[in-house]
Amino acid sequence: MSNQLEKVKELIQLREEARLGGGEKAIAKQHERGKYTARERIAQLLDEGSFEELDMFVRHRCYNFGQEKKSYLGDGVVTGYGTIDGRLVYVFAQDFTVFGGSLSETMAQKICKIMDMAMKMGAPVIGLNDSGGARIQEGINALSGYAEIFQRNIMASGVVPQISAILGPCAGGAVYSPALTDFTIMAKGISYMFLTGPKVVKTVTGEDVTQEELGGAEVHSSKSGVAHFAAEDGEDAIKIVRKLFSFIPQNNLEEAPMVECTDPIDRLEDSLNEIIPDSATRPYDMYEVIGAIVDNGEFLEIQRDYAKNIIVGFAHMNGQSVGIVANQPKYLAGVLDCNASRKGARFVRFCDAFNIPLVTLVDVPGFLPGTGQEYNAVILHGAKLLYAYGEATVPKVTVTLRKSYGGSHIVMSCKQLRGDMNYAWPTAEIAVMGGAGAVEVLYAKEAKAAEDPKKVLAEKEEEYNKLFCNPYNAARYGYIDDVIEPRNTRFRVIRALQQLATKKVTNPAKKHGNIPL
Ligand code: HXC
Repeated sequence: MSNQLEKVKELIQLREEARLGGGEKAIAKQHERGKYTARERIAQLLDEGSFEELDMFVRHRCYNFGQEKKSYLGDGVVTGYGTIDGRLVYVFAQDFTVFGGSLSETMAQKICKIMDMAMKMGAPVIGLNDSGGARIQEGINALSGYAEIFQRNIMASGVVPQISAILGPCAGGAVYSPALTDFTIMAKGISYMFLTGPKVVKTVTGEDVTQEELGGAEVHSSKSGVAHFAAEDGEDAIKIVRKLFSFIPQNNLEEAPMVECTDPIDRLEDSLNEIIPDSATRPYDMYEVIGAIVDNGEFLEIQRDYAKNIIVGFAHMNGQSVGIVANQPKYLAGVLDCNASRKGARFVRFCDAFNIPLVTLVDVPGFLPGTGQEYNAVILHGAKLLYAYGEATVPKVTVTLRKSYGGSHIVMSCKQLRGDMNYAWPTAEIAVMGGAGAVEVLYAKEAKAAEDPKKVLAEKEEEYNKLFCNPYNAARYGYIDDVIEPRNTRFRVIRALQQLATKKVTNPAKKHGNIPL
C-alpha cells in the first residue's frame, strides 16, 4: 500500500472513530435513556445527505483530574451545516455520550465557529441541547466558553433566526443560551431546564420537587412560558423545528419563503357571518376564525398552553408567511394580562425582526384588573405589547371582530400605532369602555336619586351602546379603514397584504430603544 493510501485509510478510521462519539457502550446507554445520539438527531433534522460536519478532529485540552487520559475525537458536540428543504442552516448537537455532553472550552469554540459562520452567511442556527452543563474538570475555561456562546446569541438576535431544541438536561447557566434564542422546543419525558436542580432547591427552600415538576417540558410550556413547544418526544421536537423553519426567513434582510397557495384567496366563509353570539358575554372560539381565514386552515401555534387568552402563531395567506396574533374570547374572555402581554410582545418582535407581516384579530374586553396583576407589573408587561406593535414596521393588518375597549384597543395594533389596514366587522364595539361600566360612572348620582336605578342605568346603557358600541363611530374618524363582511375576511386581509408588499417605513436612528423590561 502506498504512503498516500495508508494515510487515506487512517483518515477513514479516524472518521469512523469520531462518528462513535463516546463509544458503543455510551451510545447504547443513550438509547436506553430513550434518547437519540447527536448524529441521529442531525440526520432527522437535515435533508438527507446534506450534512457537512466540521471540527471532527477537535479534542479537549484539559489536564485536570486525569482528563488527559480520556479524550474523544470531536469532543462533546457535533457541528456543521446542511439544509432543511434545500435551505442552508448551521447546526450543533451536543453529544451526551461524551462526558454527558458537558461543555468544554473546545466544545464552545466549535459552537462559536458555526455561529460566526451563520452570521457571515446569513443563515439560521439550530442548537440541539443535551448536556450536563459546564465540564466540571475544566472550571473557568468551560464557563468562559458559555459566555462566548451567549455573546454570539446576543449578536445574532434579530439577525439570523436561532432555534433551540432541548432533548436532555439543560441546567444551570446553560439555560441562558436557549433563553436568548428565538424559539425553544422541549421534548416531553427526556428534557428539563432549570437554574438550580431539585437537590439545591431542597437545601435552600426545603421544597421537595422532581426534575419534571421543576423544569420539564409541560411546566415550561404552560407555567413559565420558557418553552414555545412541548414535543411528544425527541423525534417530534425535531419535526417541530423543521415545521417552524418553513415559516421563517434565512435572516433579517430576507423574507420568509413563499409556498404555493392551493386555497382560493376569495373563498367566502359563511360561518363567520354568524360566529359572534348575540350575548356580549358569550364566548366563541377564535381558532375557528383563524382556521377559516388562513390557507387550508393550517396554523402553527406558538406557546399553545401558555397564556391561552392570547393566541400567536404562523400561517400562510396566499402562500405568504404571516404572524397571527388574536385574543381568545373562550379563555378569560380574551382579557390581556401580564403573561398574555409578554407572549404577544415577544412574538410581534420576532415577526418584525424577520419581516413577517402581522395579522391581528381583536376581541378584547380590557386588561385584567386586581392586585395580582398590578403587583406583577401589568403596566410594564402591557407596555411591552404596546411598544412592540408601535415599533413594528412590517405590514400590519388588524381586524376587530367584537370588543376593543380602552387601553387594550390601543395596544392591539390600533391605527395610531401605525396599523396599516384596520378593518372591523359590523359586530365590532370600539369604545373607551363597555356600556355597563360606562353608565355606572356617568350616571351614578342619577341612578341613586331615581326610583328605579336599574331602569335608569339600562336606558343610559342602551344610549351609550348605540352611540359607541359599534364600528361606525371609529370609522367615522378614519380610525377604522373599512367595515367588512365577516365571511370575506380572508380576501380582504390578503388584498391588504398584497397592497402592503412594498411598504417601507423606518424608525428613527438610535442605538436601541428602551423597551420596558
Ligand atoms: C463533566 C459530566 C458532567 C459535567 C455529566 N458528566 N455531567 N462530566 N462535567 N458537568 C458525565 C458523568 O460523569 C458521566 O460520565 C456521563 O457524563 C453521563 O452522566 P450520568 O450522570 O451517568 O448520566 P445521567 O444519570 O443521565 O445524569 C445526567 C445528569 C448528571 C443529571 C446531567 O450527569 C449530572 O447531574 N451532572 C452534573 C450536572 C452539573 O452539576 N453540571 C455542572 C453545573 S454548573 P461517565 O464517565 O461516568 O460516563 C454549570 C455552570 C454553567 O453548568 C454556567 C454557565 C453560565
